Amino acid sequence: MKLYLGLVHHPIKNKLGELVTTSVTNLDIHDISRSCRTFGVKKYFIVTPFVAQRELVDSILGHWEQDKANAYNPDRQDALSIARAVDSIETAIAEITKMEGQAPMIAVTGANFDSFDGDVSQLTKKIEGSNMPCFLLFGTGWGLHPIALEKADFKLSPIISKNSDGYNHLSVRSAVAIYLDRMFGS
Ligand SMILES: C[S@@+](CC[C@H](N)C(=O)[O-])C[C@H]1O[C@@H](n2cnc3c(N)ncnc32)[C@H](O)[C@@H]1O
Repeated sequence: MKLYLGLVHHPIKNKLGELVTTSVTNLDIHDISRSCRTFGVKKYFIVTPFVAQRELVDSILGHWEQDKANAYNPDRQDALSIARAVDSIETAIAEITKMEGQAPMIAVTGANFDSFDGDVSQLTKKIEGSNMPCFLLFGTGWGLHPIALEKADFKLSPIISKNSDGYNHLSVRSAVAIYLDRMFGS
């Protein structure tokens, strides 16, 4: 399956539901790259409009490309090789379209969607049935802003537990790993 993943820092909601840009965190670069590499995601796009933040991501990715760092921890370098910083969701879509020769289906995630299109198995069926690439988006801050959700072809049902009182606010790193395991785990 041609799956691409996006970690979005804009457009994002803050606590008041306003449109904001969040900061990139080091942990999200490393941990999500490892999950993506483990589960066969083709490219992991870190989306931020801030040049300085993209430079920061590039310098972290560049550091692990250096011979010394690579020799010390080749698995980390391997995982990070699929990560890339881009300025917008649209740029990532354009890159995927160029690589695949067709535009991707956009799927979005969120902890408290009121309505959604289906779960992971229904999304998988849709992707396989259409043979399209899929770009799966995750939020930061208080989640993806409605202007990002509007672009979606598929809203995934939130991760919830039978064993909780309804609390389901995972870190984005955990949410990524859970969805990828549901899609591709053995
Ligand atoms: C709102 S951000 C919170 C970011 C937080 N500051 C962190 O350290 O990860 C978490 C993102 O992870 C995903 N997520 C978290 N909990 C989820 C759930 N229960 N179901 C689906 N997606 C979830 C969504 O993509 C959401 O936008």
